[in-house]
Amino acid sequence: MANFAIMGFGTVGSGVASVLRMNGDAIAERLGEPLSLKYILDVRDLSATEYAGIAVKDFSVLENDPELDVVVESIGGAKVALEFTRRALMAGKHVVTSNKELVASHGRELLAIAKEKNVNYLFEASVGGGIPVLRPLFQCLAGNQIEEIVGILNGTTNYILTRMIRGGVPFDEALKEAQAKGYAEQNPAADVEGLDASRKICILSDLAWGREVLPERISVQGISGLNLRDVETASKAGYQVKLLGRAVKLEDGRHCAYVAPHLVREDCPVAGVDGVFNAIMIRGNAVGDVMFYGRGAGDLPTASAVMGDVIDALQHREKRRNLGWGEGGDLADTGELSMCWYLRGGFAVPQGCREIGGGAVLTGPLSTKGAKALAKKLGAETILPVLP
Ligand code: HSE
Repeated sequence: MANFAIMGFGTVGSGVASVLRMNGDAIAERLGEPLSLKYILDVRDLSATEYAGIAVKDFSVLENDPELDVVVESIGGAKVALEFTRRALMAGKHVVTSNKELVASHGRELLAIAKEKNVNYLFEASVGGGIPVLRPLFQCLAGNQIEEIVGILNGTTNYILTRMIRGGVPFDEALKEAQAKGYAEQNPAADVEGLDASRKICILSDLAWGREVLPERISVQGISGLNLRDVETASKAGYQVKLLGRAVKLEDGRHCAYVAPHLVREDCPVAGVDGVFNAIMIRGNAVGDVMFYGRGAGDLPTASAVMGDVIDALQHREKRRNLGWGEGGDLADTGELSMCWYLRGGFAVPQGCREIGGGAVLTGPLSTKGAKALAKKLGAETILPVLP
């Protein structure tokens, strides 16, 4: 019998309990032993629920139970979750999480503790919800040098953009819809200002190149400044506006990461990813392009990834997964990337630019610095990169 606990019984935590209820027999067969949910740690009162008998409020109960194998951390944030994760690892428990904030900001430290204690710290659910992408990146694609990662990493903003593009709904209204449907996080700023996507592209970069990229070190632009006019103008010209997290390896070996709304050509697979779905494209120097697509949020999809990690942690009890990254290297500035740009405003079409209607043009390849200087000179109201 293997035992696990869930810390934080919100959307993800309760989803994990549901997946165990749905698939407990199949999971036991795969593990070769039954998997038992021994504790649920939450500040809420669960006495009137079916989980009353296993509900606890004191973390030390988990910490001091020698029969507890795995702890699922679905508390969120980087305060209590950080303390409990540290303590659980120090106590020799495997820890599985969906907490992208914690992994992006403290993953290096937590993975080092896990290594020292010979336990697993796994976080497949922290990027792309239910989409298997981190394990393919560090395992199946380990024979490649990763050249680029680009993806729709936030379901809430993709839902909002889809409603703007397909439904002609203004940003504010589309955000209210997303909140009513329960997609947006408690604080919608983390979604709409790109912070959530920045944490995810940092985790992907950490794994791809083995160097820590902290969210506060990268350029992040969200979608709150977008208006319907730009979305419609782009659409008429054959482009979809998508909020993308992107990480690129430069020729000199350095890499850079950033988050920004981009124009994406309609024939690019990412352009057809609508609603709350996520998609991540990874380019390896041997495999070429691969794309991962699916539900990036929600209780059961996220719990699917968490449960996969719980099983993996238990299957790697003796020889832990060798996972981790080093200190941050020399991160390149996104200003060094060369791309074409969408500029809109009441200006005459500059030389070297192509008019696309709606008062907008597409430039030829320019660095971010060059594009910003041109936009300033022209008095452009909107400037957006075009995904190469
Ligand atoms: N708020 C996130 C999203 C949840 O909309 O994608 C999953 O990380």
